[in-house]
Amino acid sequence: MLRAPGFLYRNQELYCERVPLTALAAKFGTPLYIYSAMTIRERFRAFDRAFGRARHTVCYSVKANSNLAVLGLLHRLGAGFDVVSGGELARVLKVDRRAGEDVVFSGVGKTAAEIAAALRAGIMMFNVESESELAVLARTAARAKRTARVALRVNPHIETETHPYISTGLREHKFGVAIEQAREIYARIREEKYLEAAGISVHIGSQITDMEPFRQAMLRVAELARQLTSDGHRIRYVDAGGGLGISYQGEDDFAARVQAYAQAVLAPLRGLKVHLLLEPGRALVGPAGALLTRVLYIKTNDHKRFVVVDAAMNDLIRPALYAAYHEVVPVVNRDGTSRTEVDIVGPVCETGDFLARDRQMPTLSEGELLAVLDTGAYGMSLASNYNTRGRPAEVMIEGAKARFIRPRETAADMMRGERK
Ligand code: LLP
Repeated sequence: MLRAPGFLYRNQELYCERVPLTALAAKFGTPLYIYSAMTIRERFRAFDRAFGRARHTVCYSVKANSNLAVLGLLHRLGAGFDVVSGGELARVLKVDRRAGEDVVFSGVGKTAAEIAAALRAGIMMFNVESESELAVLARTAARAKRTARVALRVNPHIETETHPYISTGLREHKFGVAIEQAREIYARIREEKYLEAAGISVHIGSQITDMEPFRQAMLRVAELARQLTSDGHRIRYVDAGGGLGISYQGEDDFAARVQAYAQAVLAPLRGLKVHLLLEPGRALVGPAGALLTRVLYIKTNDHKRFVVVDAAMNDLIRPALYAAYHEVVPVVNRDGTSRTEVDIVGPVCETGDFLARDRQMPTLSEGELLAVLDTGAYGMSLASNYNTRGRPAEVMIEGAKARFIRPRETAADMMRGERK
């Protein structure tokens, strides 16, 4: 059963929208990232609609998938952007020079140069994560004679049931400042001529499927907003961050899920006159992507069966890094064949290089194609050149059309700039 509507079987063959994946492999080779434009569009609209008439901007979190075609599509749909580096900001500005106005800049380690570039781009808001960063921002803004709108990223100390590497809302994490210290820091912001305390931001982690932590976080943020207002600040924005999870296994009723999420975020803010910002990444693009790969070899070592494919941990690191589950399906389906347990592994020289472990799969043959599903988020954006493997090519499917949106990296690309 495939959950993403962009990927479906027709006559036992896997398609992305109206294009068969076998045709894409023949034309562009493997490994190949394939994105369904329709899926991104539908998910963005469902997300946006869930917040209804509440004043809000959906600032897509660029880190999830930063290909210019993805950013362009979301920009045309009306998205703003959440960036965490000068590089991501440059990508947004490449899509549209004026898109900077709808950008929020997050991250614990912004450099003065990155801050200056963001000021020049006239971004909407800096999500500041420490007092030291605030000092650099004040200095840089004064030098540029431009007022920086600031939201302090507060840490609400909320437990989330997600992988420890992607949970961020606890005291011991490097993100944000303790919510208890916020009032004091906002008082200091007010003394800076080129800083404006415009908002409050929060982000509690990623791949969160229980809505209660979101509600808890917003309750604390709402309370702080009321305190700050009574302190005389004009808090115009509340940035709720990202983190809404997807179903990597089983059904995914996205419309229902995003509605529950919107409820959890909006209810605590009732009565506050703020513009809500949201920073979804995975929820918009995760299910819109698949990684297409070809079986190279099948081997058995001491009763264990390995399917060696041409995609590896450098192309998709989530299984190795977070023990993440991704469904792997044959591109040419067959009903009724018996299943065997296999590990699907890549060519990289690491035991951790697997895409799936102990997975029941139909009998596979060398040369056939597999699709690794739900890889539109944190797939290509986390890809590397480890083992000097070129990163995959990318295509964006729109109905019956395939747009080639990034070529496969060559050995020459990877050695560019090096000296022997
Ligand atoms: N806003 C901030 C401040 C963030 O740190 C993140 C993600 C997001 C928004 C977007 O979160 P999303 O809606 O995509 O959950 N590489 C990991 C995920 C790391 C997320 C980091 N921050 C993975 O593959 O699961």
